[in-house]
Amino acid sequence: MVKVVICGAAGGIGQPLSLLLKQSNLITHLALFDVVNAPGVAADLSHINTKSKVTGHGKEEMDEALQGAHTVVIPAGVPRKPGMTRDDLFKINAGIVRDLATGVANNCPGAFVLVISNPVNSTVPIFCEILKKHGVFNPKKVFGISTLDVVRSSKFISEVNTSIDPSTTRVTVVGGHSGATIVPLLSQIPGGFVGSLSQDQLDTLTHRIQYGGDEVVKAKDGAGSATLSMAYAGARFTLTLLQATVSGQRGSVESTYVNLDADLTNESVKAFRNRTGLDYFAQDVEFGPDGVEKILDLPTLSSYEQKLLETAIAELKTNIDKGTSFVTENT
Ligand code: NAD
Ligand code: LMR
Repeated sequence: MVKVVICGAAGGIGQPLSLLLKQSNLITHLALFDVVNAPGVAADLSHINTKSKVTGHGKEEMDEALQGAHTVVIPAGVPRKPGMTRDDLFKINAGIVRDLATGVANNCPGAFVLVISNPVNSTVPIFCEILKKHGVFNPKKVFGISTLDVVRSSKFISEVNTSIDPSTTRVTVVGGHSGATIVPLLSQIPGGFVGSLSQDQLDTLTHRIQYGGDEVVKAKDGAGSATLSMAYAGARFTLTLLQATVSGQRGSVESTYVNLDADLTNESVKAFRNRTGLDYFAQDVEFGPDGVEKILDLPTLSSYEQKLLETAIAELKTNIDKGTSFVTENT
């Protein structure tokens, strides 16, 4: 039995994400939870001729939805409107994520959890702190989903250099998931990509990756933020994780925002943590049967990237503290 629960399944991300996951034979039960419309979305998806059973769970049925979950994916909460930062969503989404974390602790404490709800830099610490309070926190199993930054990077670099295939060229993106905390390591792209750019081009491309979410928010003009590209990115991450944890596939790598306790064996992670004081950071992670197998070493950064990283670290500290303080003050 591989039960995957989507919390916020009737939303802009939730619906296409559920559709993409319905196509996977690794999932035997797709449980859709939302405070509105979940049974309708579930009835619709349940007619698709793949193996998984689909169930819908309304407002009062969170516990039932979560029971026995292998993996819980969380795109629940409000999205941005033009002029807002992700941090402006904290007020509403922090409480939503806290309540879902409590539901996970009570109903499926061993589940893998993928947090999409913004601001990810703060909602992941909230989730982890709640699990800690219940004594069920496993840092190898909670992931902040920053995959969309990686997906965008691949696409945007291929628009600058048309010989790059965006579907096969992965860019390492570290830091967090908002504006200046998104640090794309373009120096790592093989073939001397960065060397071929002018300083202006490098600045423009870096800024576009950091603020790609704003492009979509602006274009949607009040109707929300990225949903389809996020569903694609969320499904990619979920399926990679399931391939590792269900099928036993080894060696796959994605960037994700994790608690750094996820890999206590890596000396360079320890040194980074001592230097920065950060407990959470997005970095390339290798998956194994238990979730995070290892956090990969940060590659050698260019001086340009080093500066971006220092700016990111300061902002991340504030975002993380805001999440952990919320749990101290509101539970
Ligand atoms: P949406 O408003 O279209 O959908 C959100 C859904 O969550 C709604 O159906 C709503 O009913 C549901 N919901 C609200 N409270 C809930 C609760 N307590 N339990 C279960 N469901 C609940 O929004 P969206 O566009 O799908 O975005 C959802 C979130 O994802 C936002 O916070 C957005 O900022 C974030 N997001 C993150 C990334 C990322 O890269 N991590 C990308 C895009 C969007
Ligand atoms: C994104 O990167 O598209 C999401 O985090 C949504 C947003 O608010 O920009």
